[in-house]
Amino acid sequence: MLSQTKTQRVKLKRRWTLTGPDILGYLLKMCQRSLGNIATAAVVISILSLVIILNFTDNIQRGIVQRKNLDIKQVQNRPYLGARSLIKQVTKTMVSQHTTTTLSPELMAITPQLELDRLINASSKEKYPVTINGKYIFENPQLCSSVANLSVLIIVHTAPDHFKMRLAIRRTWANDTYYRKMGVARVLFLLGQVEDLELQMKMEAEFKEYRDMLQGDFRDSYRNLTHKGVMGYKWITERCRNAKFILKTDDDIVVNMFILFTRVLPKFENKTKQIVCNHVLANTMSIFRDKINKWYVSEHNFRGKHSYPEYCSGFIVLFTNDVIPAIFRAATMTPFFWVDDVYLYGLAPSHVPGIKYSSLTEHALIWSTALNCYRNMTENFNNTCDVLVTKSWHPGESEETWVEMIKQFEHRIGTDLSLPAHPDMRT
Ligand SMILES: *[C@@H]1O[C@H](CO)[C@@H](O)[C@H](O)[C@H]1NC(C)=O
Ligand SMILES: *[C@@H]1O[C@H](CO)[C@@H](O)[C@H](O)[C@H]1NC(C)=O
Ligand SMILES: *[C@@H]1O[C@H](CO)[C@@H](O)[C@H](O)[C@H]1NC(C)=O
Ligand SMILES: *[C@@H]1O[C@H](CO)[C@@H](O)[C@H](O)[C@H]1NC(C)=O
Ligand SMILES: *[C@@H]1O[C@H](CO)[C@@H](O)[C@H](O)[C@H]1NC(C)=O
Ligand SMILES: *[C@@H]1O[C@H](CO)[C@@H](O)[C@H](O)[C@H]1NC(C)=O
Ligand SMILES: *[C@@H]1O[C@H](CO)[C@@H](O)[C@H](O)[C@H]1NC(C)=O
Repeated sequence: MLSQTKTQRVKLKRRWTLTGPDILGYLLKMCQRSLGNIATAAVVISILSLVIILNFTDNIQRGIVQRKNLDIKQVQNRPYLGARSLIKQVTKTMVSQHTTTTLSPELMAITPQLELDRLINASSKEKYPVTINGKYIFENPQLCSSVANLSVLIIVHTAPDHFKMRLAIRRTWANDTYYRKMGVARVLFLLGQVEDLELQMKMEAEFKEYRDMLQGDFRDSYRNLTHKGVMGYKWITERCRNAKFILKTDDDIVVNMFILFTRVLPKFENKTKQIVCNHVLANTMSIFRDKINKWYVSEHNFRGKHSYPEYCSGFIVLFTNDVIPAIFRAATMTPFFWVDDVYLYGLAPSHVPGIKYSSLTEHALIWSTALNCYRNMTENFNNTCDVLVTKSWHPGESEETWVEMIKQFEHRIGTDLSLPAHPDMRT
């Protein structure tokens, strides 16, 4: 994508620098002969203005007005905040203003919890997630609203450079042409900001092609995943009220959408305020106080506690969409805490009156051995590997797993659903 754009731009410049003077010289001679000097000057000035205006408009449309004047090396060596404001300039045509919704009595009922504020003990300078009033760098506001009968919006937390994993997800389980008769699905990939301008341009090119990505105004990093999740809640609140369900996953996950549509969603279709997930009960997950642990949390946070309140493992979380605006509202009152699963599926929802958790374990969440099981399909047609979620270590594995999931489903249900012919992605 990137190299194409560059080539196009080089071509564009060449056209003016190489053939421009020839055309101009020819026109000058013609004009001088027939009009005289004053009229010729007028014609030359008009032509030049036209060229400048056209070139400028074209560049605005490409969003490269600022970029053209910048030395890329200089940009890359700048401190992070410099790069951030640069990205803002470059992409300002894509930045959108967020709309505020009027509060229903239900949302008004959500109030801060002082005890929780004390436990989280966020530093005063970054008390609430920065995403709460943040802008988007790029978004497709119509992703949901342009779709009738949207059953599921799939939200994927993804790393900026995971282009291939996103592609695999689009081609496989998030592609509803494979299960359109059961429901309509759309996918939205959530991203933060990057320092690398070239990476940013590649992401923008990908966005222009698929229009299924949302980039927020915060640095994309492991300890900023809470910001990513809150951005998801915010965007769904503003732009995706028409989806029935929200399914949150990560970019290394494959979901068996056939099991989701036939066995999970029907159980919750008439329910409200539901979070369906791999539920971690209160007082079961330790808070790690050992400094070398990946999830180390200082004794200043959750002082005196040894374990977390209830939450969900974030690799698969299903919500009835009615509850999202309430969780987003609650997040605006929940001080920032970087352990994303605890914050997004525990602390923030804990403010919402009437919220209900259901466990997914009866739909067999076992994911580490799942691909092996699907690989041995012929021996396992008696549904012994009916797993809802598997982990994938690389894009090829996602594709193989999805093909096996389709085969299993076709075998079990028969061909009455007339699934579209699937290319065998293993070859
Ligand atoms: C949406 O669902 C309604 C009711 O089930 C149906 O009448 C309509 O045709 C559907 N629209 C689309 C575009 O599938
Ligand atoms: C979704 O699957 C269909 C059918 O295989 C395919 O034509 C289409 O290109 C896929 N979409 C994407 C984004 O890969
Ligand atoms: C999280 O994002 C904010 C806003 O961009 C930034 O100031 C902060 O340094 C980031 N934190 C980490 C740990 O990356
Ligand atoms: C949900 O409601 C519809 C319409 O009232 C009904 O047909 C369906 O059986 C209900 N589903 C469940 C799981 O209760
Ligand atoms: C909150 O954190 C500060 C340091 O950031 C610490 O001095 C204070 O004791 C903490 N309060 C509690 C209740 O843990
Ligand atoms: C799959 O089949 C192979 C060879 O038959 C066997 O070694 C392996 O244990 C099987 N794995 C599973 C998960 O059934
Ligand atoms: C599947 O189950 C049926 C009856 O429950 C049994 O006869 C058959 O042998 C099983 N098939 C396999 C491959 O285990």
